[in-house]
Amino acid sequence: MGVVGTLLTATTASAFADDAALRSVDPSHGTDRVVVAHRGASGYLPEHTLAAKSMAYAQGADFLEQDVVMTKDDKLVVLHDRFLDRVTDVADVFPERAREDGRYYAIDFTLEELRKLSFSEGFTVDDGKKVADYPERFPLGKSHFGLHTLSEEIEMIQGLNHSTGRDVGLYVEVKAPWFHQSEGKEVSKAVLETLKHYGYVDHDDNAIVQVFDPRGLKRIHDELQPELGMDLRLVQLMGETSWDMTFQPGTDGKLEPYSYDWMYQKGAMGRIAGYADGIGPWKPMVIEDSSTKGNIKVTELVDKAHDAGLVVMPYTFRLDEGRIPAWANDYDDMLRVFFEEAGVDGIFTDYPDRAVQWLKQNGDAL
Ligand code: G3P
Ligand code: CA
Repeated sequence: MGVVGTLLTATTASAFADDAALRSVDPSHGTDRVVVAHRGASGYLPEHTLAAKSMAYAQGADFLEQDVVMTKDDKLVVLHDRFLDRVTDVADVFPERAREDGRYYAIDFTLEELRKLSFSEGFTVDDGKKVADYPERFPLGKSHFGLHTLSEEIEMIQGLNHSTGRDVGLYVEVKAPWFHQSEGKEVSKAVLETLKHYGYVDHDDNAIVQVFDPRGLKRIHDELQPELGMDLRLVQLMGETSWDMTFQPGTDGKLEPYSYDWMYQKGAMGRIAGYADGIGPWKPMVIEDSSTKGNIKVTELVDKAHDAGLVVMPYTFRLDEGRIPAWANDYDDMLRVFFEEAGVDGIFTDYPDRAVQWLKQNGDAL
């Protein structure tokens, strides 16, 4: 079990205790819970830039998250949306390249073309003007940030692991395999091949693969990993059907919305445990939104997942105005409820420094 094993006791161990390899071997906060830097230290620097990733690394995150999509020339790039228009100047640089729906799709551009774009904080366009989604974050239009490939990010993390002696992990999300497939692209296999190339192959290697699309994740488990001789940890991200985020081919071959309803019914955790090692729920799936400061309502999800042998890694913990639930006093109180009362194994946060600090101060009691 290595160094981590010495940090655990029978009473403090979370569901990760059975599987030390899901953690960094030397957690800077000294607990068995983990902090995943959601798109990097994205509360401070534009999401998914190498700057945001290196900041998150320095802040002591256990894992850095990579959302991955494929380009027109089959390169893997680190980008949250399959669209480019929320975080880049694509509409200025390539004004003629939007699809009929007005969106600019990464899959329609070569890597060389994407390198010409400037990245920024997320924004929406209002009356022709860019308005930052989070006004308190890094200002729009300042400095220069570019896109990078999955390989470039892995090389940076492995380089930092070499130069610091730490062992920070990868937490890779394959974005919308159903979409890539409908465009004739094989994103999941390409992601696995890239991970394998960089030495992430076995269950105890420090990389986790997560997907929202259950069909896509099950295929990774049932077909792709066996075919490639791989056995990486897999996490099923949980969405709601109403989000309309995942589609599947219908009987007529046309894409239709995928229903997540089964995930909230009896036996769902056992079903997920048949092809995954953990779940990534949205925060309100763990602590009900109707909770109040005096009445925190913890759902049954964490217990059911743990009973099925799954780790639980909710998303996304933010400090920004309007992002702290009404039932919490502040960000730290929100962490306390999730770690102490709900017993989650780790969290995704845009502010890894704050979560690492909280675990340093409070982790002994978990
Ligand atoms: O993977 C956890 C979290 O990243 C899921 O939400 O939309 O930020 O990818 P999203
Ligand atoms: Ca993600």
